[in-house]
Amino acid sequence: MKKIAIGNDHVAVELKNHITKYVEAKGYTVVNFGTDSGESCDYPVYGEKVARAVASGECDLGILICGTGIGISLAANKVKGIRAAVCSEPYSARLTRQHNNANIIAFGARVVGQAMAEMIVDEFLDAEFEGGRHQRRVDLIEKIEENN
Ligand code: RB5
Repeated sequence: MKKIAIGNDHVAVELKNHITKYVEAKGYTVVNFGTDSGESCDYPVYGEKVARAVASGECDLGILICGTGIGISLAANKVKGIRAAVCSEPYSARLTRQHNNANIIAFGARVVGQAMAEMIVDEFLDAEFEGGRHQRRVDLIEKIEENN
């Protein structure tokens, strides 16, 4: 069964705890790289931790939560091999696995509630990358990374 890395800043401790239990109940192992404190902290630290766990293969996929999901995903996307997608609804969460082969899903604790977060995570974890023409496009994204 897949191992999921989860990370968050101070804004998202409660939602992280809820989603951790939810994902564990689906049968996954969840590794917590986020803060467990409500004290103000810096989201790039946790975005990078989860990104490195996924890029190294220590974890299969990642979940990142901050206020909007944006800052923490921007940080994660700086790590080679990471495709972190911010999704505020389930349709995009499914499609970003199927078409973009996203390996991290991000969302905002100030944007989505618990029930929406559960649906986003369900679609992301249940979907599979479709390959084919989408592989060519993902390869082109990787080529941009290589050319830096
Ligand atoms: C923290 O106030 C907030 O900026 C952070 O959680 C996140 O939304 C950044 O993108």
